[in-house]
Amino acid sequence: MAEARAAWSCANEQCASITPSVNVAFADVWPLLRGSWVTTLPGCTTISAATYSRVDSTCRTGDTKLVYTGGLGVPKIPTSSACLTTWSNTCRITINYLEHVQPIWDLARVTTDPLTGAVTDHTCTTCHNRANAAGAAQPAAGQLDLTSGTSDGSQQVNSYEELLRTHRQQQLDSAGVLQDICLVSVVDPVSGTITCTTFATVSPSLLARNAASSRFFTKFAAGGTHAIGGSWLTSGELRLISEWVDIGAQYFNDPFKAPVN
Ligand code: HEC
Repeated sequence: MAEARAAWSCANEQCASITPSVNVAFADVWPLLRGSWVTTLPGCTTISAATYSRVDSTCRTGDTKLVYTGGLGVPKIPTSSACLTTWSNTCRITINYLEHVQPIWDLARVTTDPLTGAVTDHTCTTCHNRANAAGAAQPAAGQLDLTSGTSDGSQQVNSYEELLRTHRQQQLDSAGVLQDICLVSVVDPVSGTITCTTFATVSPSLLARNAASSRFFTKFAAGGTHAIGGSWLTSGELRLISEWVDIGAQYFNDPFKAPVN
């Protein structure tokens, strides 16, 4: 099979997907070997024989081979600059959460329309924050806090906890204080103390090792609330996030970056 694949692939200019590189180059050649050029991939509209598209839920029209370049600003390239151009067997992709992913949530994404002066703010942590611009408490948009603070004595930042773990929904009480939403509570007949037994929860938006089934990416795909009015995340950023999720969504991908404790 390997010989058939190599022979056919190079003859049909599909060499990139069998040439080692730090970039994901996907070409579904087996259907091609069966006799016809496939121009539609699940989740993607038409692709030509010479372009490669990702076959996951974030695949959009016009998404061709996604390449790490230096021009993005964010994300930080998760490999050495030498590996970007010349692959060797020592090349590795290393994605540490605080170093590569959190800066995507923190990046200021404010644009001003040159004609109307209208300001659009797509900064993730503006809305996905338990405090508004004035510092007053608010439930995080979509019950997802993307800030880099820590709470509840956790060693990991809020965004990591909320993206990958089931967490409680919150609302403001009448005094303007954030509290967990209680669904079922019991009242102690003697003391009258109310204890919550069931809280309203949200399942994690990201599933480690399974970007294709992660709810997160549907927001940025065609028709998603975060795809309207321009892409809220670049395809490079989305690629970095999905690649990080698929390699395990670790806090420290490089164990030498982890603190001793
Ligand atoms: C203007 C406010 C606003 C900004 C800016 C914003 N979001 Fe959202 N986001 C929301 C609201 C409101 C929801 C809940 C409704 C929905 O799902 O669209 C939401 C939902 C989400 C969800 C779904 C949560 C879940 O549990 O699956 C994700 C993921 C998300 N946002 C990520 C982001 C990222 C990443 C950014 C930065 C690029 C961002 N958002 C910027 C308002 C915002």
